Amino acid sequence: MGYTIIKHPLIDHKMTILRKKETSSMEFRQLVNEISTLMGYEVTRDLETEDIEIETPIAKTVGKRISGKKIGIVPILRAGLGMVEGLLTIIPAARVGHIGMYRDPKTLKPVTYYSKLPKDVASRQMIIVDPMLATGGSLIEAIDELKRNGAKNIKSINLLAAPEGLKAVEEAHPDVEIYIAALDEKLNEDKYIVPGLGDAGDRLFGTK
Ligand code: PRP
Ligand code: URA
Repeated sequence: MGYTIIKHPLIDHKMTILRKKETSSMEFRQLVNEISTLMGYEVTRDLETEDIEIETPIAKTVGKRISGKKIGIVPILRAGLGMVEGLLTIIPAARVGHIGMYRDPKTLKPVTYYSKLPKDVASRQMIIVDPMLATGGSLIEAIDELKRNGAKNIKSINLLAAPEGLKAVEEAHPDVEIYIAALDEKLNEDKYIVPGLGDAGDRLFGTK
């Protein structure tokens, strides 16, 4: 399925402020929230709708309502948490699962420490959220976990991706569509995205 870079002047502007090293945690959280809402608008573009007859105060008319699959949002902890509110702003009825994962600083491989998903993932459009797609290891693991639980329709929203990570996820899970706000140059020797924005979890939560 591949990936889509969501191009929009507001997203580009906000991403630039997000990347700046002077940006405070408070601003960072706000920006991640806003960018997630803007990206969510595009990611939900293909939701099915059906006609519904309604009555306005003036006349009868036919409107549209969302039909088909319900949505499940799954943040990869910690940094993915920063994207949940932004998506719930436009999809308030979505169920939210959580996958806890960190990248081992020595092996740089993801370690899963928590997983709690809605029971009916098989019938939902699942959307994984995590600001960073670096080596792709975390996202591949998260998709594996969703598929082990029966998920069949999976998308991922990541603010930034490295080419190496995107390729790895596409090879491991060609059925998953990945939406990003920017595709960066490369990974450095510590597997951080260059130019990137640093450690997303630390910047969101003011840790380090
Ligand atoms: C970051 C990020 C992703 C992962 C990406 O999480 O939020 O989950 O790294 O790296 P990968 O593509 O190489 O797997 P981190 O391990 O820093 O954990 P945190 O969110 O708890 O800070
Ligand atoms: N995780 C981050 O938070 N930032 C990166 O650049 C890579 C992984």
